[in-house]
Amino acid sequence: MSPVGIRRRTVLGAALALGACKGSARAQLSVDRGPPPPLKSLVPFPIGCAVMAPELAQADYAELLVRNVSQLTPEWEMKMEYILKDDGTFRFDAPDAIAAFARSHGLRLFGHNLIWYANPVAAFQRIDGSGKAFADAYRNYILAVAGRYRGQAVGWDVVNEPVNEDGEGLRDCLWSKNLGLDYIRRALDHAQEADPDAILFINDYFLESIPRKRATFLRMAEDLLRAGAPLKGLGTQTHLSADLPAGAIRTAMKDLASLGLQIHLSEMDVSLNRARRMFASSADLERAQSRLYAEAADAFLALPERQRFAFTVWGLRDKDSWLRGPKENPGPQLDAPLLFDDAGKAKDVFWTLADAFRSGPRAG
Ligand code: XIL
Repeated sequence: MSPVGIRRRTVLGAALALGACKGSARAQLSVDRGPPPPLKSLVPFPIGCAVMAPELAQADYAELLVRNVSQLTPEWEMKMEYILKDDGTFRFDAPDAIAAFARSHGLRLFGHNLIWYANPVAAFQRIDGSGKAFADAYRNYILAVAGRYRGQAVGWDVVNEPVNEDGEGLRDCLWSKNLGLDYIRRALDHAQEADPDAILFINDYFLESIPRKRATFLRMAEDLLRAGAPLKGLGTQTHLSADLPAGAIRTAMKDLASLGLQIHLSEMDVSLNRARRMFASSADLERAQSRLYAEAADAFLALPERQRFAFTVWGLRDKDSWLRGPKENPGPQLDAPLLFDDAGKAKDVFWTLADAFRSGPRAG
């Protein structure tokens, strides 16, 4: 724990705690602090980021990305809905470009994702109910994709979002309809067959805000481990709303770590829009957002080193965020869930996260 980290965090903490002096915390944060330190230089574990292939061609974005992160997660182009075309053929142009960028810049590649309830693509719809043909195609898809990135992808979100949003049991989906809930175990086995060295994860969201969902997710993981499935990691997406109560992240992280598996904080962003009406001012809203990023850093740092897989943000600049899309951001007020503004300038929330990382593991 560096003394500088303590001093800076103490001052910052005091400033943030003085919520009553509206301007002071922001003033404290807004003083010129020089060039933002590379995030990945502040911690001993990988800092990940979601990327799209076209972004990598933007020189300013690529520079910001390589400066700050050490692991890439394809945000969309390694998913079945991109790779498996309606006629049943595969396209790998974009995921290959992301993999090549990672390799050429010495970054880790994390595969996302092999199986997802939200991707019931046409090529599989056509063989819905076909029994062994469906099961064979399911295995062949996973072997083809995970096999292609063998030796490149350090791990995979093998099954994404298997738990019902309310936490009541596992989702019904095209995969469970044809293979039963064994689809999860099968996907893990096929992924291990394709790439025995890849670290295999199951990934889900709202594990901080819906304890019943987290409990179902953990029961599912325990059942898989008891059955001998090659599950090696748990991903908690950490798509948060700024009004998440303090302590929820820390409690969730401790629960998730209880199985001893690697933990991927896999897709962090903190929406302002989803909580805007809960706060008296934008300053209060942004302070709440900062506190959540700091709590996530503290909670992740508190994990045993062997369980800290990666801390991944779901984009760098606000304008890159999926939460700016027409579905997630239908109104005129643009969300600002990430660490850098549209121009790529480090926001106050970046500095709060950086200071939390620098402060190192803290008890509790
Ligand atoms: C989102 C991407 O960010 C969007 O670009 C895409 O259109 C839809 O998927 N949880 C996940 C991610 O696991 O794969 C989702 O990513 C966001 C929610």
